[in-house]
Amino acid sequence: MNEFHLRFEQARDKNFWQRLNPDLHITDEAKPFTITPLEIDPAKLEEAKASLKAEGYFQVHKLLDPKLTTKLARGVENLHKAGWPTPFAIIYDEYWELFFSLQQLFEAILDKGYKQVPNFWCWYIPTDKNSKGWGHHRDRPSVNTVLETGLPATLTTWIPLTEATPANGCIYIVPSPLDPNYPPGDLDRRDLHELQNVRALPASEGDVLGWTEALLHWGSRSSPKAENPRISISFTFQRADQNPFEVPLFEPDRYQTFNERLGLIAQNVCNYDAQGKTSPEILFACRRLGGLIPTISVQDGVPRQILESDKRLSESMLWSLQEEYFEKQRQNLWTGDQFYSTNRMPFVEAYVELVTSALTDCSSLIDPEQPLYILEIGGGSGCFAYRFLNDFVENLEDFDNLKKVKLKYILTDFSEAIVKKWAENKNLNALYEQGILDFAVFKAQKDRKLELRRSGQTLTPKDIKNPLIVIANHVFDSIEQDAFRITNGILQESKVTVFREDPDGSFGAQPSLDDLHIVERFLDVEGPYYENAAFDNIMAAFRDEIKEATFTMPIGALNCIDNLAAFCDEKLILISADQGYVRFDTERTTGLKKLDFDRHGYCTFDVNFMAISRLFKENGGTSLVENLDYSGLRVAFNSMISNRFQNTAHYFKHYLQRKNFLDSQLQIADLIKNGLRAGDYESSRVALFLSIVKAFNYDPQMFAIAHKDLLDERFKDLEEMNVQVRSELQETLHRTIRNIYIIDDNHKIFDSILRLYIQIDWFEECLKFSEEIIETYGDVSTAIDHAALSCEALKKYREAYEYFQRATRLPTSDRDWAAAGMKRMGKVLLQKGDSIVKFTIARAN
Ligand SMILES: C[S@@+](CC[C@H](N)C(=O)[O-])C[C@H]1O[C@@H](n2cnc3c(N)ncnc32)[C@H](O)[C@@H]1O
Repeated sequence: MNEFHLRFEQARDKNFWQRLNPDLHITDEAKPFTITPLEIDPAKLEEAKASLKAEGYFQVHKLLDPKLTTKLARGVENLHKAGWPTPFAIIYDEYWELFFSLQQLFEAILDKGYKQVPNFWCWYIPTDKNSKGWGHHRDRPSVNTVLETGLPATLTTWIPLTEATPANGCIYIVPSPLDPNYPPGDLDRRDLHELQNVRALPASEGDVLGWTEALLHWGSRSSPKAENPRISISFTFQRADQNPFEVPLFEPDRYQTFNERLGLIAQNVCNYDAQGKTSPEILFACRRLGGLIPTISVQDGVPRQILESDKRLSESMLWSLQEEYFEKQRQNLWTGDQFYSTNRMPFVEAYVELVTSALTDCSSLIDPEQPLYILEIGGGSGCFAYRFLNDFVENLEDFDNLKKVKLKYILTDFSEAIVKKWAENKNLNALYEQGILDFAVFKAQKDRKLELRRSGQTLTPKDIKNPLIVIANHVFDSIEQDAFRITNGILQESKVTVFREDPDGSFGAQPSLDDLHIVERFLDVEGPYYENAAFDNIMAAFRDEIKEATFTMPIGALNCIDNLAAFCDEKLILISADQGYVRFDTERTTGLKKLDFDRHGYCTFDVNFMAISRLFKENGGTSLVENLDYSGLRVAFNSMISNRFQNTAHYFKHYLQRKNFLDSQLQIADLIKNGLRAGDYESSRVALFLSIVKAFNYDPQMFAIAHKDLLDERFKDLEEMNVQVRSELQETLHRTIRNIYIIDDNHKIFDSILRLYIQIDWFEECLKFSEEIIETYGDVSTAIDHAALSCEALKKYREAYEYFQRATRLPTSDRDWAAAGMKRMGKVLLQKGDSIVKFTIARAN
């Protein structure tokens, strides 16, 4: 057995501890203490309270029997000699009994029912010049624990087991009246204003010291002049009528079991290893033993509601809340400008190229007589599907062996509400009419059939003859994950406790994901973890390869892949994009890190792309993952088809990855957005405008941005366009219009296009486009306004009059502007003797 495992085995062996300190005891039973607490002179108690109020600390002299403290000091010394961190002292009953014996003191200060906070330490400071106590600090700088009475809600108790002197590192304090930052001051500050304010607290064995958690204090440096090592022990207590300051709280009047003591010691040793003195072997043992009690968590007196405890992450309530959230949101998440980058045109372009390459790579497997299905899971707004299909259909035309495929795009989401919304969407309907799109509700982890909403057809695995292309964007980072860590070859699972905190204590009825927090408890994984050998193999490989790391298993994604592979008889091509990581040696994963998630109303966890890659590779497939460290959104191409995917790999490596295409597009967009304002360009504004819009694959948002800064106020360049530029502009307008995807009632995106038409005097086109918008979406104010303007320019005064009139009735139009237009048109029409206008005006008068 190596030293790592030896320390672990020793630590959990009660007999080992018993042999180490035969004079001390270990009661492994959660029963009340049988000893009687000390009778303390009431005058001493009053004195301690008065001192706490006056100076933030107390020292009661000669309270404990020196014979006892000598015995306890010896116990600590034995631990020290055997190479164990001295906090292991509380494995023995006697150190718990020591604190229990002070019950009268604690009751005097904290009242009856006081609790033991899971925060303690035991020091052995040798007599040399390199040893010292803890540096100057307050025990709880995060929150004020001093009550208005001057007494504390929490109390640190510090008991010297040997004599503590200035020569061996005794405690120093700044009495509260001499510390301007003592409550109600700023507890984050620790400045020592005048060194003369510092007070040394030499103490004899048998004394008991205590202070509020706001008191500034430290342990000084030892020296060879010291006669004995400084041995001391400290524990924190709190009032019962306050919310916990740290959990789990202990009842101070009973024994804790052996395992509870071990768990408490182990966690404290890990938490305070910031001191850096613990050996790796012992730290390793403590990491494994910490899970014996719930994880210590700082609560600082804030009301907390525990919603669930010790769940596997994938079985946590987070996921059911997540499903409810998506179901409730419908498409509100994606309205307006809030499309994710996965719906923007450069991203669409990359996917169109990837799918096209993959199909050319395995064209020999495609039967043109059979439908070629593209299945999007977690389709969300539907915008990606709409934009992808338009471009993709065009792309197929370039390839003789692909142009005849019977393409069918199945847009799915697990949320019924979202799928219903698609059926009403005008953009998607147009594609449905072309026979290339259908919708279905589909839970990708488990469903084995697709009931198509529009055609009524049901697709089952036997209908999938061609390779199945699956698209999943920001789905795997929003579905179930499990969390683990590996420490020195031992795999530990993370069990999560989910809670929320509310300073008012008025928790709303329905928890919202944005308000939830988690604490993890780590337990060794023994034996297979999943019922799926492939998944367990992935974990086993990680365990063998990594020394120390924190990672997640995207179990939701793995289940989706398993299910989808079965759905298409392993002819699976999966293209996905998520936030996530591709290495174990980065800041994100190296060492032992706390798990957390991003909150956006729903939650997302980083995806471990290595797990997904392995699943495909172990099935003889291909896996390409963007591996740049700073990539925020990673695209992965994975397939189970045994094919070299040469075109795809080429495109992936040379285009997507080397250029960091997706991230750089977003960054360039940012640069353009802000850089355009500088205004000092060498090229013509129209040329710049066209280049930007084209570079972004005719992205409507980019069109609006470039239009605003380049063309909105400048007409000269536009007036001077030659025929070729005009035709390029026409093509650009046409393509950008095709990419507009409307959700709900947000039609702002039409503005810049309509405006540009007017600026370049393309009134016919402007009128036509406005009328199309009005026909499809009803009285969209920008379309009515522009229809009025184009009619006026085209001298269609009667229509112009009517559009202006319609505009005056729309709350979103500029009514004064519309009324002025109406008046202007009225005048012209009157001059022309238009009878209806005459009549309307007469009636208005
Ligand atoms: C973060 S959104 C991404 C939407 C879209 N793919 C995009 O990139 O804009 C996640 C989507 O996945 C859907 N979803 C969540 N869990 C799912 C599951 N188990 N199966 C299928 N869809 C799921 C949600 O309803 C939501 O539409």
